[in-house]
Amino acid sequence: MKKLIIINGPNLNLLGKREPNVYGSLSFTEFFKTIKDKYPAISLEHYQSNVEGELINKLQEVGFNYDGIILNAAAYTHTSVGIGDTVKAIETPVVEVHISNTFSREEFRHQSFISPNAKGVILGFGLQSYELAIQSFL
Ligand code: DQA
Repeated sequence: MKKLIIINGPNLNLLGKREPNVYGSLSFTEFFKTIKDKYPAISLEHYQSNVEGELINKLQEVGFNYDGIILNAAAYTHTSVGIGDTVKAIETPVVEVHISNTFSREEFRHQSFISPNAKGVILGFGLQSYELAIQSFL
């Protein structure tokens, strides 16, 4: 059974309440339940933290024994050399995901410290971005 994990960064615990015009009105918990039901043949986990170091700890913990990591580092995408270094250091392939099309937004969102070491990047498809990332590992 393939072992995948979705790792979400800061403020993504507020999905459904946070700027619904940008991020939609579904909570991640609701979305995750539908996706778990849809892909029963995969072991799919979810981890969320608002704390940069905790995201790094989790990436290190899973980064040598899972089959794939789907990472939405949220705002840390654009600022964190530390998370970028971790993505480079670990062995498990990382697919970078964003709900919104970061390139159609403010210029500071065009920069990513994750992308250079990601297997691929999926963005702009709403929560479906996560599902497309899952499918990329099947
Ligand atoms: C985001 C885009 C980031 O720029 C932003 O800081 C987020 C969410 C997205 O999924 O669209 O928090 O990663």
